[in-house]
Amino acid sequence: MSFDIWNRNYTGSKLKLIDWIDELIEQNCKGHSFCDIFAGTGTVTLKEIQKFDHIVINDFLYSNNIIYNAFFLQEDYDLLKLQNFIEKITKNPIENIQDNFFSINYGEKYFSYNDCKRIGNIRNYIDKEKNKFNKKEYCILIASLLYSADKIANTVGHYDAYKKGKKLEDKFVFGFVKPYTFRDKTIEIYRCDSNELAKKINCDIVYIDPPYNSRQYSRFYHILETLTKWDNPQLAGVALKPPQENMSSYCTISAKNVFNDLISSLRCSYIIVSYNNTYNSKSKSSKNKIEYEEIINSLQNRGEVKIYSKKHHFFNAGKTDFQDHKEFLFITKVKK
Ligand SMILES: C[S@@+](CC[C@H](N)C(=O)[O-])C[C@H]1O[C@@H](n2cnc3c(N)ncnc32)[C@H](O)[C@@H]1O
Repeated sequence: MSFDIWNRNYTGSKLKLIDWIDELIEQNCKGHSFCDIFAGTGTVTLKEIQKFDHIVINDFLYSNNIIYNAFFLQEDYDLLKLQNFIEKITKNPIENIQDNFFSINYGEKYFSYNDCKRIGNIRNYIDKEKNKFNKKEYCILIASLLYSADKIANTVGHYDAYKKGKKLEDKFVFGFVKPYTFRDKTIEIYRCDSNELAKKINCDIVYIDPPYNSRQYSRFYHILETLTKWDNPQLAGVALKPPQENMSSYCTISAKNVFNDLISSLRCSYIIVSYNNTYNSKSKSSKNKIEYEEIINSLQNRGEVKIYSKKHHFFNAGKTDFQDHKEFLFITKVKK
């Protein structure tokens, strides 16, 4: 078993829309450099990397950053060494593995007890032996563990809760991620707040896909964050979450101000924004924090805005009945 970058559960992944987004970028934008500033799974970066010489990928989650380094960092690595390392640790019979942070806290909740023992044991072992690996190798090991665990998690696709009421089967199998080779490109990988990074970078095209509702990604994917950081946090509540970190302003009442601040500080030729009109939703937590008109207003301060809906319709700002439209792409050509 092995994993491509898109082989994970991730709320808001653009996997299903990627060909549509890519086509619109191709039709509307010119340049050599591309920045995916809220990169999530990295699916958009993977598609666009083929066409640009210089790529910037960013997300403030620790787990996403490790994953980007595993897939995109252009550093040599010894796959055989990594395979031998994992084979040695996974050969260990489950009865010989001691309880660890994962099994004590998450056993029979997010994973079976034995799977938790196995996952925690591998993570401890990577930590103990980390001096044997370069950065790329270390990130491949952690990212592979994240994908392997995520594949079998007893959830509906995120870790806001686990499914209750059934005996969990042992399913864990370690699979490796499959890194990509792009030796002729420059790839910069960041774990920054998007608004801070925006002030430092200079790219022809910036793609913006922030969260639009109150659901915090750092809370949704807390187990992947903990497995990455491996810092023995104090867990709380039924969902066993660690102390808050990386809480996004885009999920709060200040969303429209931070969005406007981001748009006004970007130094680029094209700004591309993904948006969906879930703000009519009945559930309070999935209501949008920024309204359609607010996005358009911010973008229009930087230049002419073209608006596309999922069905590839193009219409002018302000004249839109978007009742039936779900997914939008706003492309702004920045005024000089
Ligand atoms: C809608 S998802 C992006 C999905 C991505 N386009 C994909 O295809 O997988 C939004 C991402 O923004 C990140 N994020 C939220 N607020 C951020 C901030 N202030 N700075 C950097 N990243 C942030 C979240 O961790 C999440 O991964």
